[in-house]
Amino acid sequence: MEKNYYITTPIYYVNGEPHIGHAYTTLAADVLSRFKRLDGYNVRFHTGTDEFGQKIEESANKNNIDVHDWIDQNSQRFRDLFDAMNMQYDHYMRTSYDYHIKSVQAIWQKMLDNGYIYKGQYAGWYATSDEAFVPESEIITKEDGTKVAPSGSAVKWLEEESYFFKLSEFSDKLLKHIEDNPDFIRPKSRRNEVVAFINSDGGLRDLSISRSTFSWGVPVPNDESHVIYVWLDALSNYITALGYPEETTPEYQNFWTGQGIHIIAKDILRFHAIYWPAFLMSLDLPLPKHIFSHGWWTNNGEKISKSKGNQINPLDLMKEYGLDQTRFFLMRDITFGGDGDFSDASMQRRVNELSNDLGNLGYRVLSMVYKHCNNAIPAYDGDLDSECSDFIKNTDKDLDIIRNHMDNYEIHNALEHIWVMVRAANSWIDAQAPWALRKTDINKMNHVLYALCEVIKRILLLLQPFMPDSIGKILTSMNVSDTNFTGYATLLVPGNQINKPEIVFTRYEG
Ligand code: MSP
Repeated sequence: MEKNYYITTPIYYVNGEPHIGHAYTTLAADVLSRFKRLDGYNVRFHTGTDEFGQKIEESANKNNIDVHDWIDQNSQRFRDLFDAMNMQYDHYMRTSYDYHIKSVQAIWQKMLDNGYIYKGQYAGWYATSDEAFVPESEIITKEDGTKVAPSGSAVKWLEEESYFFKLSEFSDKLLKHIEDNPDFIRPKSRRNEVVAFINSDGGLRDLSISRSTFSWGVPVPNDESHVIYVWLDALSNYITALGYPEETTPEYQNFWTGQGIHIIAKDILRFHAIYWPAFLMSLDLPLPKHIFSHGWWTNNGEKISKSKGNQINPLDLMKEYGLDQTRFFLMRDITFGGDGDFSDASMQRRVNELSNDLGNLGYRVLSMVYKHCNNAIPAYDGDLDSECSDFIKNTDKDLDIIRNHMDNYEIHNALEHIWVMVRAANSWIDAQAPWALRKTDINKMNHVLYALCEVIKRILLLLQPFMPDSIGKILTSMNVSDTNFTGYATLLVPGNQINKPEIVFTRYEG
């Protein structure tokens, strides 16, 4: 049976430039999707941009740019960053695509036909930077008297005609779904947060799903004085990008009804874990299998924000430290699901960890092999000696361990486990001292170096999703032919040529 896997990131607002936070989510999805591909899955990975709504319109006006040019230019910036970071997405979504607009209107129509939309009057608070209606009970009044949303975003009072979605009808159904599917919202702390929100105030209130005081949005069918609330439009992208409302396309069939995961951060949990499933229920459609919410990056302990001007541009990091060094740092330095803090010192520590542990292991062994084993995977005499074959056997189970971590979205634990392998291999070299064996027992040296090449190959296969470019180079230099996980335990062929090794991970010297 074909194993399908659908993975998405949020589609990002194009009101400015991308920063480390956006790069982080798309990178995590890239790493997870590359892992699945290597593991034999048929993967579809989507990322992209969210281009309608008041926030985008206002930002274009502020910058004195026609909104169409603004969204094109900013969407391209995100795309350029993702390309520079070597993200292997299958579709780059833009909500301004024609097909998406039509599909969102079809979704609206179906919700209306199913009896879940009615017209009313909205009077309440709105946080434009979050594009969120904020209930009175959540409004925070600051010392100077200004009112803000719990996120800290400014709010303004709105009174306008609006269409509503009957969200209140879904409280019990959502609670039941969350209870029946303990893996639906992860990590667990986030699930508890969602349940508490549904239960607060005696259940969910109906949701305003149109705006009538500006026009930058998808027009409501048959009522052009309203545009569809940007979150209804944006969340729909997860299915419109698969061809919905057409339900017979292979993309929709394979990927919406199969295994899937929305990767997001905690700021947009409510939209994904409450509104989105309720919208889908109103359309009689299956729900996503999982929603994983990671934490937030800060910069030297401070919240990253445009107004503070402390956004970290991943392109600068890559220029200073290297592409795969940056990818490694982002995945290695923090717990996936928790918050993380950026500092140059921690970045530099990770760059050197990569060079000292992995770089050193690979370069040390492959240089010896190249020099002393006729540029080939060592050809040892007889059967591999038991100490060496045990060293290899010890890594037989590691693919399963890593797979388990990745399936549980413990990306940091997967990397930590690979690092345990790297450290163990470095200690084993020191204990075996092949450089000394070269003078005393050349055959044993061949056994030892062979075992090291095999274990290094396994480590490299596991590291490909994290640093595809650099690791790919080393695997190519070793002439490894099957780089999928099916090749994990297939032993290297003694005598196969290797190329002259190059230093791939250099130290950061400042
Ligand atoms: N357009 C909506 C999402 C619609 S999805 C149907 C949106 N866009 S956003 O540009 O604000 O992106 C929010 C997402 O960007 C977060 O959920 C997270 O994935 C990522 N991050 C933005 N800043 C971040 C940090 N400081 N740290 C980690 N991730 C953050 O919300």
